[in-house]
Amino acid sequence: MIPLLSRKITGSVMDRLPALKVVANYAVGFDNVDVAGAAARQIVVTNTPDVLTDATADLTWALLLAASRRMREGMDLATSGVWEGWSPGQLLGMELRDKTLGILGAGRIGRAVAARAPGFGMKVMYWDRDASSEIEASVGAVRCNTLGQLLKGADVVSVHLPLTEQTRGLLGTRELRRMRAGSVLVNTARGELVRTPALVEALRKGPLAAAGLDVYEAEPQVPAELRGLPNAILLPHLGSATREARRGMWRVAAENVRRVLAGEPPLTPV
Ligand code: GLV
Ligand code: GLV
Repeated sequence: MIPLLSRKITGSVMDRLPALKVVANYAVGFDNVDVAGAAARQIVVTNTPDVLTDATADLTWALLLAASRRMREGMDLATSGVWEGWSPGQLLGMELRDKTLGILGAGRIGRAVAARAPGFGMKVMYWDRDASSEIEASVGAVRCNTLGQLLKGADVVSVHLPLTEQTRGLLGTRELRRMRAGSVLVNTARGELVRTPALVEALRKGPLAAAGLDVYEAEPQVPAELRGLPNAILLPHLGSATREARRGMWRVAAENVRRVLAGEPPLTPV
């Protein structure tokens, strides 16, 4: 089986497919698959890491820049037909040079996002369960001991954690209130990591200046409160939506299936 991430592969789905040998998820995230349930049934689960890392990191920066520079409001103004021309105070955003990028989750995608920061003159800090010598060596990222330290110290926070029972709802009202006034939140990971009502409040009343979101709690629903906020830059889960990444994902998923059916170890087991 090669399921899409929108498909929940539960134990009861697996029980209805008694010949099932491999769930080759067409995504790097595998929160849609009951991994323990698969293991109990001796079904192999694989994902598609690496091939979508750069695509997702690029899209993260697209959202980061769009949120920092108020692109939704700018596009609305430019296409409204009522723009009255250049003016010194129009839609002022945040410059990135000398600001701090806070990476939440220093896995492959978090590290690739961090690797792009020096080009914009940003410093990097990160928070992760495990220290990452790679992110520290490549961009001099400073590790935060606590989530609060990262939230208080970053001008832009970008979320790159997997969705698990430990990370679900990680950013709620208390956490978002700790962020800097005028800061930006970017989420290209999973919507369930951030509580929507808390995010809406933080965008309405501060401290957030803007948010760039590619993912939502109950996709394909995009919450109406977010749709109505001009400082919410919203995309429909396009992180890995490049021709290159999607071709790579098919290749990896198909090769995982081929290997498992041939009795070989899969390329990318979860
Ligand atoms: C997309 O969200 C993925 O996990 O690949
Ligand atoms: C802006 O267009 C400038 O020339 O400064």
